[in-house]
Amino acid sequence: SQLKMFVDELPDMPKIKGYDVVNGDHVPKSLIIGMFHKKWKFHRDIPATPVFAYGTSRHTATVPGPTIEAVHGIGTHVSWRNHLPSKHILPWDPTIPTAIPSTKEGIPTVVHLHGGIHEPESDGHSESWFTRNFKQRGPTWTKKKYHYHNIQHPGTLWYHDHAMGLTRVNLLAGLIGAYVIRQPDLEVPLGLPYDDEFDRPLVVFDRGFRVDGSIFMNSTGNNPTIHPQWQPEYFGDAIIVNGKAWPYMIVRRRKYRFRIINASNARFFKFYFTDNLTFIHVASDSAYHERPVTLKEMLLAPSEIANVVVDFSKSKSNSAILANDAPYPYPSGDPVNEANSKVMKFIISTHHEVDESRIPEKLIKYPSSSSSDASPVAHTRYIALYEYTSNVDEPTHLYVNGKPYEAPATEMPKVGSSEIWYVINLTDDNHPLHIHLGLFVVLDQTELAKEDEFKDCMLKFNDAIKCHVSKYARGKKVLVPAHERGWKNVYKMMPGYVTKILVRFSFIHLNESYPFDATSKPGYVYHCHILDHEDNVMMRPLKLIA
Ligand code: C2O
Ligand code: CU
Repeated sequence: SQLKMFVDELPDMPKIKGYDVVNGDHVPKSLIIGMFHKKWKFHRDIPATPVFAYGTSRHTATVPGPTIEAVHGIGTHVSWRNHLPSKHILPWDPTIPTAIPSTKEGIPTVVHLHGGIHEPESDGHSESWFTRNFKQRGPTWTKKKYHYHNIQHPGTLWYHDHAMGLTRVNLLAGLIGAYVIRQPDLEVPLGLPYDDEFDRPLVVFDRGFRVDGSIFMNSTGNNPTIHPQWQPEYFGDAIIVNGKAWPYMIVRRRKYRFRIINASNARFFKFYFTDNLTFIHVASDSAYHERPVTLKEMLLAPSEIANVVVDFSKSKSNSAILANDAPYPYPSGDPVNEANSKVMKFIISTHHEVDESRIPEKLIKYPSSSSSDASPVAHTRYIALYEYTSNVDEPTHLYVNGKPYEAPATEMPKVGSSEIWYVINLTDDNHPLHIHLGLFVVLDQTELAKEDEFKDCMLKFNDAIKCHVSKYARGKKVLVPAHERGWKNVYKMMPGYVTKILVRFSFIHLNESYPFDATSKPGYVYHCHILDHEDNVMMRPLKLIA
């Protein structure tokens, strides 16, 4: 039977300050955050669910984990500790490239701060995993305590697990959380809602549950003779916001700011309100854009972040439902159903009040590709996304540039440089491509003419130039929507299109080089952020060079 919606109140996750205050000054802070096995109530009528949760103790751990609040320029150090049991609570698949401890005991984990600009040793590289008490460690593991500099532009980030071949199950189990970098001297003058009550992260994902409350995940693969458990996309029918299924939130008749993080494995959301409310979009992923953009609907791929202001004083009624109508898989999968088409409900006070927050005409202007401040383009690359199927025409694995993850790094940008990447999507799905360390601007998306002909050549040679990509990339051009023209760390690569992006391997707000060695050993990665794709293995190393 269908669960009742809007019966649980939206929680606010616990906040942890990533800085100390000494004599009125902000100073760096060291945190200890653990991963714990516990039970979590996702809904009034779902029995408590076994989960893996981040927190400062088992008792206080939550799904999603605590929101870490950092201050621009003040470093945060985090010792991430694995307190997980020896066996996973979800099925996984040893036949895809996976972190497997030699003792076969313990759950590999490693934390990545998504959108963060920091050294490789603190980046949560997939192979830098560790099990409980650091008993077993992956080949690129280097240290226990991560260092986040927080000297990048202010914005919304999130942290999540990144262990090789286990990212989809570790996130499904609950290992996710929000991270906000604030720069009050720059942000407060904007006048946007900015304090605790009116500035709230919304971490959104989909899950399926069994009657006993446990998370449902298929234990049989779509191609079980090849991969006994792996499935190309995980979808669940319950939509969870801040750890509750279809919650409600009581709001005042004024502006709120929401930092919406799509933490789903594979589900895209196309958000809209059931009444006439709009989203005033002010930042995408971790960066503000130049001007606010008003939207009636908003498409968010897995791992994309939208910072929006919603003005509830504009509502003509006393409630509004945040809804979704993105097909799954996106764009050509099933249409939404009654359950997954609803996200949460806002119950709006009838009391009219004075709202001192405002929407400025201009936000923050960073140097961009079209401005003379951008560093000259040092390199052009072609990045092709493939899906391979078995003879029953079911996906078996995905690759970038036809290469397995283990093949030596081919993307080796220079520290401080900018590059043009042409991302060629030869599959039927939209893939959110995420690049660690670098930020990028999406320049355009161009349809491939005679895609099949081009694809045949690519499957043979894996070489876009040899296959004359420029001859094929001459179909329809799709304009990048206004709210997505700023600096991004992930973007939706449309199927059958070539997406041109300008990637910058330096800060977007400073002309300074990194205060760390970006070329050191563990390196970085870039990948599709559909976690089931990333795990099998739409991911490649990214190695910076001096
Ligand atoms: Cu949000 Cu490499 O990940
Ligand atoms: Cu993908």
